[in-house]
Amino acid sequence: MLFKYKDFISTINLSKEEIFEILDTAKHMKEINKREVKKVPTLKGKTISTAFFEPSTRTRTSFEIAAKRLSADTVSFTSTTSSTTKGETLLDTIKNIENMHTDIFVIRHKCSGAVKFVADNVKAHIVNAGDGTNEHPTQAMLDLFTIREHKNTLTGLNVAIIGDIDHSRVARSNIWAMQKLGINVILYGPKTMLPSDTTPLKCHIAKNFKEAVTEADVVMMLRIQLERQNKILIPSLREYAMYFGLNKTSAKYLKKDAIIMHPGPINRGVELSTEYADCDRSVILNQVENGIAVRMAILYLLGMQKRRTDGSST
Ligand code: CP
Repeated sequence: MLFKYKDFISTINLSKEEIFEILDTAKHMKEINKREVKKVPTLKGKTISTAFFEPSTRTRTSFEIAAKRLSADTVSFTSTTSSTTKGETLLDTIKNIENMHTDIFVIRHKCSGAVKFVADNVKAHIVNAGDGTNEHPTQAMLDLFTIREHKNTLTGLNVAIIGDIDHSRVARSNIWAMQKLGINVILYGPKTMLPSDTTPLKCHIAKNFKEAVTEADVVMMLRIQLERQNKILIPSLREYAMYFGLNKTSAKYLKKDAIIMHPGPINRGVELSTEYADCDRSVILNQVENGIAVRMAILYLLGMQKRRTDGSST
């Protein structure tokens, strides 16, 4: 087993081989998900807790299903049901649950860096289910898994990531992982939704929608993260949809075999018109389905390790 980390926090330090180990493990897990009895005893006796301090439909549900399919015991709590509402710190909350002999925590938090902070201060394995605008590494893994399923390769692909790049943890985790695999990533979005300095991303920034998608094998539309913007960044959603959304006018620039992705939740009619969210080229619901297999793989790779005490994270 190559995957040697105590925690899964980021894609930035993953090697190409480690990424492929996750994707190949997920392929086995997907086969389990297709069986009539979708359950294996692999993590029997382990306890996995999902701690979501931000809303989630896909990530929380798929982690809980993934844990149950591997026969782990699961506990779930959210910001509204935990004692953080009474002033308890995030770390105290997690440490209390850790002392109930929890093996793996899956944590989502609105603050960038909060999940890493917890990982550095507890012995249990920690999985980042999205921290602020920083990273969403399991989303990147399920995106890569879905791309490989549809394109049969990850080598030499062009991927266009379009929308609210600056606030997108999905974009960041995908960019780091895709570059490790030699995928060419092109970014496009309103100037107000791009980082002021795009140099560290090492991606080509397209000047218009046509330039972004003309060569793209994959077109990944991002959600506008209105909840993370503390000022108005676009004049109106209607204008955003017209210039940055995928719709009848902009779709004509896509390659015929380009697949359409979105991490969800979709703002229908803004990032994507319904026609393209639900078309044959859209793999959005495949992404959701694959989320279970990929999260099973990550829980398996962490849960099968002997508990490590050197504190290394991805
Ligand atoms: N893609 C994603 O993280 O969706 P949720 O917010 O529903 O978990």
